[in-house]
Amino acid sequence: MKAVRDAVPIDSVVSEYLQLRNAGGGNLKGLCPFHDEKSPSFHVSPSKGFYHCFGCQEGGDTLDFVMKVDHLSFSESVERLAARAGITLRYEEGGYGRASQQGERTRLVEAHKSAARFYTEQLDGPEAEIARRFLAERGFDQEAARHFGIGYSPAGWDHLVRYLRGQGFTDKELTLSGLAQEARNGRPIDRFRGRLMWPIRDITGDVVGFGARKLREDDQGPKYLNTPETPIYRKSQVLYGIDLAKREIAKANRAVVVEGYTDVMACHLAGVTTAIATCGTAFGGEHVKILRRVLMDNAQSEVVFTFDGDAAGQKAALRAFEDDQKFAARTWIAITPGGMDPCDLRLAEGDEAVAKVVEGRTPLFDFAMRSIVDRHNLDTAEGRSAALEEVAPVVVQIKDPSIRQGYAVRLAGLLGIVDEEFVVRRVAQLARWARERGQSSPRGPQGARRHEAPAVQAPFVPRGPALNLRSPAHRVERELLKLALQRPELVSPAFDAYGADEFTAPPYAVVRQALESAGGAEAGISDSGFLGRVRDAVPDDTVRSLVTELAVEPLRSSRSRDVDEAYAGEQLVAVRRAAVLARIAELEGAARRLEARGEYERSAGVRQQIWTLQQYGTALRERGAAAL
Ligand code: GTP
Ligand code: MN
Repeated sequence: MKAVRDAVPIDSVVSEYLQLRNAGGGNLKGLCPFHDEKSPSFHVSPSKGFYHCFGCQEGGDTLDFVMKVDHLSFSESVERLAARAGITLRYEEGGYGRASQQGERTRLVEAHKSAARFYTEQLDGPEAEIARRFLAERGFDQEAARHFGIGYSPAGWDHLVRYLRGQGFTDKELTLSGLAQEARNGRPIDRFRGRLMWPIRDITGDVVGFGARKLREDDQGPKYLNTPETPIYRKSQVLYGIDLAKREIAKANRAVVVEGYTDVMACHLAGVTTAIATCGTAFGGEHVKILRRVLMDNAQSEVVFTFDGDAAGQKAALRAFEDDQKFAARTWIAITPGGMDPCDLRLAEGDEAVAKVVEGRTPLFDFAMRSIVDRHNLDTAEGRSAALEEVAPVVVQIKDPSIRQGYAVRLAGLLGIVDEEFVVRRVAQLARWARERGQSSPRGPQGARRHEAPAVQAPFVPRGPALNLRSPAHRVERELLKLALQRPELVSPAFDAYGADEFTAPPYAVVRQALESAGGAEAGISDSGFLGRVRDAVPDDTVRSLVTELAVEPLRSSRSRDVDEAYAGEQLVAVRRAAVLARIAELEGAARRLEARGEYERSAGVRQQIWTLQQYGTALRERGAAAL
C-alpha cells in the first residue's frame, strides 16, 4: 500500500479537485472540499504527503483524501491511485482485477469507460449516418467529435448490454450504472437507443454518465435523455466540460456557463475553453461550490452565464439574488444575439462571434437593474422615479455597503438622474429600513403599491415612509430650497415667511430650519459666508451634504426657460398651495371628528378656518405669487 500511497504526489491528486496556491514554507492551500468556506484554510504539504484543513480539522494522506472526496472505500481508493500511477495491483488471493474484489465505484466507472468506447466505435458504422449528419449540420467535424468523445448508441434493444456482459460486467452492475434498465420481463435492456451520445465526465476525467440526444422522429422519448441518479452520477453535481475546462478556468479566473452540450463544444472550438454546462438541470448551489474551488474564489474571478433570450436571462438574473451574495457579485451575464445559442451563433457567424458574446458580458447587478429600468419611460420624471422605486429594492439586496453604493451611483447614471446623492441616499435609506426590520421581509408590502405589475417580480424589501421623487410636493420643495440657496434675491422676502412645516419631506424641513438660523434668504443676498452658516446650522451630516447638493444642483427650469422672478414665484406658490391643501385636509378630519361627537360649536370654528384657507388656496391658484 505504501508504494501506491507514495506513487502519486498529494498535490497532484488534490489539484484535480481544487486550485492550490502557495502557502509558504513549501506548503500549498486552497478552498476546502469538505466544508464550505470562502477563504482557503485547506493546507497541503507535498513534502510530508499530508493535507489538513484548519477550518474543519479534516486531514490525512493521499488515500484518505481520495476516499473522503469521492466517497470511495479503502480498496477503491487504492485502485484509483494505482491506476494513476500505472501500478498493477496484485490481490492476495485470486489474482487481480476480479470483479468481486473491486469496489462499486470502480466497477461503475469501468463500465462507463467501456460503454464510452463502445459508443464511439458505433459512430463510424452505417447506422450512425444520421448522427454524423447531425454533428456536421452543427458544425462539428470528426476531429471535434473525437475531442469530446462523442458516440452513437445503436437502435436495438441490448447491444450495449451484450457488449458489457462480454467484458465481464454483471446485470446488476449494468442496471446500477444506469446504462441499462430493466425491461418488463426483468431482463436488462439498453437505456440509450438510437441516440447521439455525449460522455459526461467528473472533474478528474472519469466518465460517470451520458447525455443522449434524440435523432429520429419515431423516437418517443424526450429530446435529451441523461443518466439517472446513480452512486457515481448526481446531476446537481456534474458540470459538462469541467474536466476539459478546469485548468483554463483556474488560469483565466473565469468560467463560462452555457446551456447545452453542443454549446460547450461550440465554445471550446471557438476558443472559449472555459465553457461548461449543467446536465439537464438548473445551475444550483452544488455547482457553485465546485466552481468556487476551481476558481479559488479570488476577487477577480468571474462566472459568466450566457443566455439566448432576454426573458430567460432576466429570470435567471433575479434568481441569482437569492443565491449567495459573494457569488452573485462575481456573476456576469452575456446575451447571445438573435435568440441564438452559442452553437447556432458559431454556425451563423463564426468563432469570433462566440468569443465576442463573452467579451460583451455585463455584471449581473447591472443587467438586473437594466432589465427593470428598460420597462420604464425615462423621458419623464415620473418614469424615472417609478424606475428608481422599483430598482432600489434590488440594489438594496447587495449586502456589501461599498459595492451597494457603487451600484447606486451606477443606477443614477442609468436613470439619468443628475442628483446621484439622492439615489444613493434612497438606497441607503431602504437598506436601513430593511436592516431595522430584521431582514425577515414578510411577503407583500404594507401599503401595497400598485404601479404596473413588473414582468419579473423584484425581491420584496420593506419600503418605509418615502422620500419620493415622484411626489410633486417633494420636487417643488426641493426646487424652492435650491432657489433660496442659489438665488435668494428671487425668493426673498416671501420665502422667509415660510414655516419649516410647509416642507413635508423631513430633510427639507431641516434645511428650511437651518436657512432660518443663518438669517434667512434675505441674509443670503449679500452675504458670501451664507452657505457655510446654513451648513453649520444643520444638526446631521447627511443633511449637511444635502445642503451643498442643493446649492450646486442645476435648477430645473434652466433647459426650458429662464430662472427669473416669475419662475421663483411659481415655486413659492406651489409649495404654499401644497401646504394649504395639506392643512385643509387635516382640519377637515378634525372637524369631522368633532361633529361625530356632537361638538358642533367647536367644529363650526374649525370650518371657519377651513373656509379661510380655501379662499387663500383659490387666490393662490388664480393670482399666483401676487396672492402670497
Ligand atoms: P436544437 O434545438 O436542435 O438546437 O437542440 P440543442 O441540442 O441545441 O438543445 P437545446 O438548446 O434544446 O437544449 C439545450 C440543453 O438543455 C441540452 O443540452 C440539455 O442539457 C437540456 N435539454 C433540452 N431538452 C431536454 C430534455 O428534453 N430533457 C433534458 N433532461 N434536458 C434537456
Ligand atoms: Mn440549441
